[in-house]
Amino acid sequence: FLVLETTPSHSVLSDDIGEKETANPSFFPLDFLFGTASSSYQFEGAFLSDGKGLNNWDVFSHKPGNIVDGSNGDIAVDHYHRYLEDIELMQSLGVNSYRFSISWARILPKGRFGERNRQGIDHYNNLINALLRKGIEPFVTLNHYDIPQELEDRYGAWLSPDIQDDFGYLADVCFEAFGDRVKYWTTFNEPNVVAVRGYRSGIHPPSRCSASFGNCLHGDSKTEPFIVAHNIILSHAIAVNIYRTRYQKKQGGSIGIVMNAIWFEPLTNSPADRLAAERAQSFYLNWFLDPIIFGKYPPEMHEILGSILPEFSRNEWEILQTGLDFIGINHYTSLYVKDCISSMCKPGTGGSKTEGLAIRTGRKDGVPIGEPTGMDWFYVHPQGMEKIIIYVKERYNNTPIFITENGYGEENNASFSTENFQYDIKRVNYLNGYLSALQRAMRKGADVRGYFIWSLLDNFEWICGYTKRFGLYHVDYKTMERTPKLSATWYKQFIARQKPIK
Ligand code: NOJ
Repeated sequence: FLVLETTPSHSVLSDDIGEKETANPSFFPLDFLFGTASSSYQFEGAFLSDGKGLNNWDVFSHKPGNIVDGSNGDIAVDHYHRYLEDIELMQSLGVNSYRFSISWARILPKGRFGERNRQGIDHYNNLINALLRKGIEPFVTLNHYDIPQELEDRYGAWLSPDIQDDFGYLADVCFEAFGDRVKYWTTFNEPNVVAVRGYRSGIHPPSRCSASFGNCLHGDSKTEPFIVAHNIILSHAIAVNIYRTRYQKKQGGSIGIVMNAIWFEPLTNSPADRLAAERAQSFYLNWFLDPIIFGKYPPEMHEILGSILPEFSRNEWEILQTGLDFIGINHYTSLYVKDCISSMCKPGTGGSKTEGLAIRTGRKDGVPIGEPTGMDWFYVHPQGMEKIIIYVKERYNNTPIFITENGYGEENNASFSTENFQYDIKRVNYLNGYLSALQRAMRKGADVRGYFIWSLLDNFEWICGYTKRFGLYHVDYKTMERTPKLSATWYKQFIARQKPIK
C-alpha cells in the first residue's frame, strides 16, 4: 500500500494485536459513508457575526483560567467564512459526507425566547447546498456542546426540564429549514461528556461540581449529572418525535444520537473486574442508550444509585418509545477497569457510587494499554474499536451504527514548523489500525454504515485550546492556511481504492 510502504520498519503499532493488518478499502460497500467530522464552536469562529448570540462556550472560554492556553473559539479556524475552501479540501479527499453541527445561538440567539436569525439559517443553507453540489452528504448534529447562554441564564439550561421545549423548538426549526436536503440527523454529540464534564468534574461549562470532585464551590456532582442526562434523553426523544410525526415521511431521512464510547477492558480476568467493566459501560454509554432504546436505565444504575436516579413518568416513557434509527459512536481509546467494591474506591477515577464503583486506568502494572498519544488519556488500542462495535451490536439488537468520530491527537509543539507536522505517520498508522478493526467488526456482522475522521482540520480542542492537533490538514493559526498532512494523502488514496478499479 503506497503510503504505508514508507512506514519505518520499527512500526509504531503494538505487536500483540495483529495490527500489521492493512485496512482494505474495497471491503467497504460503495454506499458506505466516508467523511470527516467537525463542530460549530471548534471550527466556525465568527462568534459575533451576522446576528449570532453568545453561547455557553463563548462565555466560558473568555474566563481566564478555563482554557489551558488562554485561547477561545472567537475565530477558531474561520470555517464560517472559509467553508467553500474547506469543501474543496473535502472534495480533493474524495469523501462522500461531512459531519458538522449547528450553532444553536447562531440560528436562535435567545432560544425560543427571541427571533430566528435569518442570516444564521442562510449560512447553513449555503453550506448544505455547497456540499450537495460537490456530491457530499451533510450529516448534521443538532447540538455539539454549545448552547445559547440565554438558556443558562434564564433557567439553568440542562438542569431544568424547560430545556426540553427549547431543544424541541431548535429541532423543529432545523428540520423545517434544512430537512428537505439533510438525510442524516443526530440530536446530540456526546451527552455523556456534557453531563460528566459540565456537572461532575466541572471542567466544561457551566463548571458545576462539588468540591470533592473538582475545584467548584457550587453544584452537586452526585445528583446533577443524572438530572442533566434525564433532560437530555427526553430532549432527544422530543426531537425524534417531532421528526417522526411531522417530517420523516415527507423528507425521508434518519435520526440518531452520538455517544462517546470508550472500550472498558477488565484489568484482570477476575469475575469482579469483569463485572466492574460492565458497570463502567452502564454508567457511561448505556446510561443514555438504554433509556432511548429500551425505555429504562441500566439495572446496575438502579441498584447502585437508588433514588438518585430520576424516574421516567408514564408520559415520558411513552415519548421515549420513538427510539432512534442509528447509533453514532465516537471512539478514540480504551481503558482498563478495576473493581473497587471490595477494595479502595476513590471518587473522580470512576470509584464513586455515582460512577459505578469501577476504577478506570490507562495502565496495568505501569504498562499503558496502548501507545500513548498527544491526548492524555487516549491510547492506541485498535482492538477496542472492534470490541465496542460488537458490544453495541449485541446489546442494541444490531441497530445500524456510524463511527461518527475517530482520530489521532498530537501535541502542538510550539517549536515545530508546518513541515514537522506534515509527516504524521503515527496518525496514518492509527487510522489504518482502527479501520482494520472496524472491518473485523463488520465481518462479524455489525451493521456499520459510515466512518468519520476527527478531523478535517486542526481546530479548537475545548479546554486544551489550540495545544492539540487532530487534523488531516495542518492549520497555521496566524494565516489560517491549510496544508495537507501525509494522513490526508493516505485517506484520499484509501477512499479512491474503495471504488472498483476499471
Ligand atoms: C470528541 C468530541 O466530540 C470532539 O468535539 C473532540 O474534539 C474530539 N472528541 C477529540 O477530543
